[in-house]
Amino acid sequence: MSKTGCKMTALAIGVVLIGISAIGYAAPIAEGARGTAAIPLPPMGWSSWNSFSNSVDSKVIVDQAKAMVATGMHKAGYRYINIDEGWWLGKRDEQGNIVVDPKAWPALAAGERAGDMSNIVRYIHSLGLKAGIYTDAGRDGCGTFSPDLGPGYPGEGSEGHYEQDFLQFARWGFDYVKVDWCGGNKENLDPAVQYAEIARAIGRAEASTGHRLYFSICNWGKQSPWTWAPNIGGVEADIWRTSGDIVAPIVAGSKNAGRRASFQKMLSNFDQGIHPEAQHTGFYNDPDMMVIGMPDLTDTENRAHMSLWAISGAPLLVGADLTKLSDATLATLTNPAVLAIDQDALGLQAVKVREEAGGLEVWSKQLSKPGERAVLLLNRSDAGASIVVSPIAVFWKDLGLSEASATVIDPWTGKDLGAFDGHYTATVQRGDAILLIVRGAEGKMTRIGPMLGNKAIRERSSVFAREQTFRFTSAACDQPYAQIHIAYSNPDASPRTAELRTNGQDATRIAFPPTGTAGGIIWIQALLNGAGQENVLSFSTPNGSNPHIESIFLHRNEACGGGGRGNLQQPQ
Ligand code: GLA
Repeated sequence: MSKTGCKMTALAIGVVLIGISAIGYAAPIAEGARGTAAIPLPPMGWSSWNSFSNSVDSKVIVDQAKAMVATGMHKAGYRYINIDEGWWLGKRDEQGNIVVDPKAWPALAAGERAGDMSNIVRYIHSLGLKAGIYTDAGRDGCGTFSPDLGPGYPGEGSEGHYEQDFLQFARWGFDYVKVDWCGGNKENLDPAVQYAEIARAIGRAEASTGHRLYFSICNWGKQSPWTWAPNIGGVEADIWRTSGDIVAPIVAGSKNAGRRASFQKMLSNFDQGIHPEAQHTGFYNDPDMMVIGMPDLTDTENRAHMSLWAISGAPLLVGADLTKLSDATLATLTNPAVLAIDQDALGLQAVKVREEAGGLEVWSKQLSKPGERAVLLLNRSDAGASIVVSPIAVFWKDLGLSEASATVIDPWTGKDLGAFDGHYTATVQRGDAILLIVRGAEGKMTRIGPMLGNKAIRERSSVFAREQTFRFTSAACDQPYAQIHIAYSNPDASPRTAELRTNGQDATRIAFPPTGTAGGIIWIQALLNGAGQENVLSFSTPNGSNPHIESIFLHRNEACGGGGRGNLQQPQ
C-alpha cells in the first residue's frame, strides 16, 4: 500500500502503463498496443411515431427512407428507419403468426407478396439504411389503451409469442426492435423479468437466423431500468427509455395537428435521462426521440436540444417528418462536430460538475481524445426571473484537467475561441445552452490495483479471479462522479461481462469487448463517497468467463494532492 503524492500530470495512458510494470505488476500484454476497446455507439436514426402516429404505412416509410438519403442525414451518420406503433393491428393466424394488412404493406418489387414486412425491409436496405420494428412486452399494446389516431385494437403485443415474434422480425430482416410497455404495465408484469426473457428470445432468433436485432427497451423509466437494463439477458448493446414521451404525436392534417412540442418537457426528459453510472460499454440511457424540427421549437431551442442529447451521449432518433426539414433544422441535426460528441468512442454520459443559484449549470462529458471535454453551459433560470442573460464559468479543475492553458472551441461553428488559463466564461441567455469543446491537459491519474478480500494481488495468476475489489479514498477535490478507465484483457471473440457494485449502490453490468492479445481499455463513471471516505468497487463474474481486470485508473484534477489509502498504486 502506498499513499499517492505523485506530481504526475497529463501522462498518456501508455506511459502510465509502462509505469505499472516498473512497480512489479506482471503485465500480461504488450502495454504499448493497448487502446480503447471498440464499443457499440448510441444508435442514430428516425422513428415514425412523433409525426405519423398510427397512420404509418409503407408509403410513409419509403418517403422517409428516401429523405434520409436525399437530405444527407445518412451521410452524416443516421441509419435506422424505425417503424413504430400502428404498423400491425393485432391479428394472428391459427399458428399465432402475425398477420399484416396487405394494403398498408404492399409488394414493392416484382415477385414480392403483399402483407410481407420483408418487402419494406428490403427497400430500406437497398438504400444502405437499417430497419426497425416495434412491439409490446405485454399481451396488448399502447394501441389498445390509448390509440391516439386510432382505432384501438387488442392483442398488439408479443406476450405469449416472444419466441415466434422475435424470430419473425429477424427473418423479415429487421435490424432493430423497440419493445414498449403499455400491455406489460397494465398486467403489472415485472419489466426486469419480461425484458430479460425478450433479450434471450432475441438471442435465440439471432442464433437461428444469423441476424441481430438491436434492442430498444421502452418502459419509460418505470422500476429504474438503468439498474437492470445494461446487458439484460446477455445483450451486447441496448438502450432503455428513462421517462415518458416528450410529445404526443403531431400528425399534419389530422385532428392532432395542433399539438405542440415543449422545450420545458424536453429539458425534463434530459434530466430524467441522466444516470452516468449505468451508461458505459455500449449501454445507453434513452431520453426519448428528439423533437427537433417539430412545431413550435425555435432554431435556438432546436440547437440547445441537440446540444443536450449530444452531451448526454443519447440515442439520436429524429421524430420530425424528414421530407419537411428546414435548412436550419437539417444543419442542427447534421453538424459533424456535435454528432462526434454524441458518438464519442468512450460512450460516456455528461455529468453535472457545477450548479449555481438561479439554474446555471455546467455539464462535462469525457471524450476519447486525452485532455478533451465536451462542456455545456446551461441557463435554465425560470421564466419569471428578472435576469435574462447570465455569465456562466467553467473551471478546468471541475473537468479533471490541469490548470494550464486550454483551448476552447465552439463545435457549432468550428470557431477557435482562444486559449484560457484555469477557466472560461460565457454569457448564456435564459433557456439556452452553449456547447463547447475544451482541449487541455489531463489531470493526474491514480492507478489502483485489485484486491482479493483484503489482500492486494501481486501474482498475475490470482488477478484473474471471479471477484475483484478496488479500494481508494475520495480526495477533497473529487467530483461526485469519477471517470475511471479499466485496463483488462479478454481473449474471446465476444465480450465478457462483470457486475460492478460501487459502495453498495445498485449493481451495473459492464461489457468487456474482445481485446485479442493486446489488452484493452474501457471507461465507466462511478458515484463516489464524500471527501475522506473510502470507496469500494467490486467486480464479480459469478457465471461464465471473467474478464482479466488488471487495474483501474481514477482520473482526478491536478489540485487533488493525493487522498489515497487502501491499495492505491501510483506509478513513479
Ligand atoms: C409509447 C412510447 C412511444 C410510442 C408510443 C406508441 O407511448 O413511449 O415512444 O412508441 O407508445 O403508442
